[in-house]
Amino acid sequence: MARFIVFEGGEASGKSTQSARLAERLGAVHTREPGGTEIGSALRDLLLDARTLGLSDRAEALLMAADRAQHVAEVIRPALAEGRHVVSDRYAGSTLAYQGYGRGLPVFELRRLSGWAANELWPDLIVLLDVPRSVAGGRAGRTPDRMEAAGEAFHDRVLRGYQALAAADPVRWAIVDGTAGADDVAEAVWEAVTHRLPDLADPPGAPTPSPPPPPRKPHLLHERGEPGGSGPRPVA
Ligand code: TMP
Repeated sequence: MARFIVFEGGEASGKSTQSARLAERLGAVHTREPGGTEIGSALRDLLLDARTLGLSDRAEALLMAADRAQHVAEVIRPALAEGRHVVSDRYAGSTLAYQGYGRGLPVFELRRLSGWAANELWPDLIVLLDVPRSVAGGRAGRTPDRMEAAGEAFHDRVLRGYQALAAADPVRWAIVDGTAGADDVAEAVWEAVTHRLPDLADPPGAPTPSPPPPPRKPHLLHERGEPGGSGPRPVA
């Protein structure tokens, strides 16, 4: 079954590296928000350019949602439909943490906005890379982008928001300590992912276990139904 896994975290928390490593290990499509499509790249430039002045908080939330709508329609859903796993560097959790906890917009409204933009596609698992601001690697040698420049208090609220989101939904969110070296963090991510989604632990091409013998009363199995199925994924 194709899985949709998202990495979340604060600035310079190692998400890009770790999401790329997991995607490679899974043979998954690796993508990101904002900017996972050509249209999204234009939105990313606008959203992150420090010269974009006076963007209102609601306009910012809507542009993030527009990027997500395009990303889901053009990249994520088609890949899942082809049976490919998808690993995204940021998704709806970023909107809840940054525009919700950071900017102060109502989180439940942002959840609805994101659900609408994504046509209710929610991740199977969200990996939160936990890195305190004092430890997060800086972006030496270049001026901070518009979001990075939003101030200490803003980014503290974002990190506290992530903790609150993960605590409220521990089934969907896995917190991984991101402060160790990249190899150790990658191993911790792999353990967290395969613990929550054990079907991913089988390497691609591994022989599938032989099916159990046919049941004596097949009609009873049909009555029980198939968990999971093709219905919409539950809300994050
Ligand atoms: P990054 O991908 O390099 O981390 O930069 C993306 C920035 O955009 C980061 O500051 C988080 C921010 N962001 C939001 O504020 N809301 C969102 O919904 C998303 C996807 C990203």
